[in-house]
Amino acid sequence: MRISDQEMLAPSDIPYSLTPPYRVKTVEYTRPTTRDQRKQLIKEYNWSAPNLPAEYVYINMVTDSGTSAMSDRQWSAMMLGDESYFNCKSWYELKESLQKFSGMEYIIPSHQGRSGETILYEVLVGKGDIVPSNCHFTTTRAHCYHRGAEPIDITCPEYYDENNNSWFKGNIDIEALKKLFIEQGEKISVVELVVPNNLCAGQPVSMKNIREVRQVIDKYKKRDTKFFLDIARISENAWIIKKYEEGYGHKACIDIVREMCSYADAIHMSAKKAGLVNMGGFVAVNDKTLYQRLQPKIIKYDGFLTYGGMSGRDLEALAVGIIEGVNDYYLEDKQRQCDVFAKACTSRGVAVFNPACTLGIWINAGKCLPHIKPQEGPGTALAVQAYIEGGVGLTSMDSLHRGREDSSDPLNTAKIQLAPYELIRCAIPRRVYTDAHYEWCGEALAKAMEWGEKIPPYRRQVLDRPPIEYSDIGLRAFFDEYEPIFDHP
Ligand code: F0G
Repeated sequence: MRISDQEMLAPSDIPYSLTPPYRVKTVEYTRPTTRDQRKQLIKEYNWSAPNLPAEYVYINMVTDSGTSAMSDRQWSAMMLGDESYFNCKSWYELKESLQKFSGMEYIIPSHQGRSGETILYEVLVGKGDIVPSNCHFTTTRAHCYHRGAEPIDITCPEYYDENNNSWFKGNIDIEALKKLFIEQGEKISVVELVVPNNLCAGQPVSMKNIREVRQVIDKYKKRDTKFFLDIARISENAWIIKKYEEGYGHKACIDIVREMCSYADAIHMSAKKAGLVNMGGFVAVNDKTLYQRLQPKIIKYDGFLTYGGMSGRDLEALAVGIIEGVNDYYLEDKQRQCDVFAKACTSRGVAVFNPACTLGIWINAGKCLPHIKPQEGPGTALAVQAYIEGGVGLTSMDSLHRGREDSSDPLNTAKIQLAPYELIRCAIPRRVYTDAHYEWCGEALAKAMEWGEKIPPYRRQVLDRPPIEYSDIGLRAFFDEYEPIFDHP
């Protein structure tokens, strides 16, 4: 018999703030490379770690999506996967787990996050609508454009203040939201809250903020405005609420997750993150009529209502992983890893976005390489140099790569706005790396920084390719190409 969910939360005096609640059974070997090879490779693959064949990336922190190590419990559950098309046994296991996790009644499996978003946006968002958010993830932003709606990001003012020590810099700006409702409430079909706020340095959202969004919608709505929660990494957000928001210290993270979800009309999850699986997702609602409206859409895009694009063994892995991922001991250790990683950077003079929490570490590349102007990609340049020095794969989220299009004129690339910070995201694959890996990543970044002004600025390459469609404009960072103005040291 495997250790049960309850047993995994039994009282313990072992400090999981110092040591993980699991040990390692399988290891994955990595390909040895040299600095010369890496310098050649990054040039060959267009100066971008996400473009490299992954086998040449020693520590891969490009994303935490689908990159978790699964547990013995998950692998054994997969052997029980029922691959029947309709109503397989594994579906009932998953439905029960997701209901327990979210507290929501109607569950619709989807093969990953964005396919779940597709059906919600198709049913509830239309032409001329506006969709405010604390900061849309790239795919919900694209869904807005695709539906002829306008995504509006209103992140709280604390995010823009580097010296602010709040743990909840991912919040939506409630005053700005009220103003939007008063001025344009008839256009607001949905408010989308991303918990935590991936594209704003992964910053968490407070329970108070979620509750206030619900109150603002109920008080000011001029049509049937819905509240969506994008819960890809909700469990990690719940840990920060438990630790730092008054009144939650004694609660289990799963109860905090359920309370967060209770304020929403619909939740959608890329389970590839906090679900601890390599593929999977779901949508959940409490309203039966809304569920019925969503039914034909998932069948059209992803598969039948009881598998949503996943195989039976995927359903089993998620049924187990979603509960492991909200285990308080596990989450305590996840935050411990972030702290170790942040210290590995700051102790070497590498500037880290404050606070470092939950899903990874954001490097403030603008501070590390002050000689490179924001529009010339300090994050892009530092990430490339760190790969050359130490084989670490990181994602640039600087103005060059991720500067925002102007939503009133999105096709006009001359109007791209600067990002508030020139960041690099070091996303932490779950249960994959050890403290020594984080130390090495800090070392690689520090070695990169030592080159100072010898590190080149970047520019966008002019590509011979068909014009991009209006609704896809936010996705350009994934296929645009950039080049250094002179060669890397
Ligand atoms: N929402 C958030 C907040 C995300 O971070 C992602 C994906 C999605 C939705 C879409 O989910 O990939 O399963 O379709 N984020 C990945 C990342 C790709 O690297 O941040 P998906």
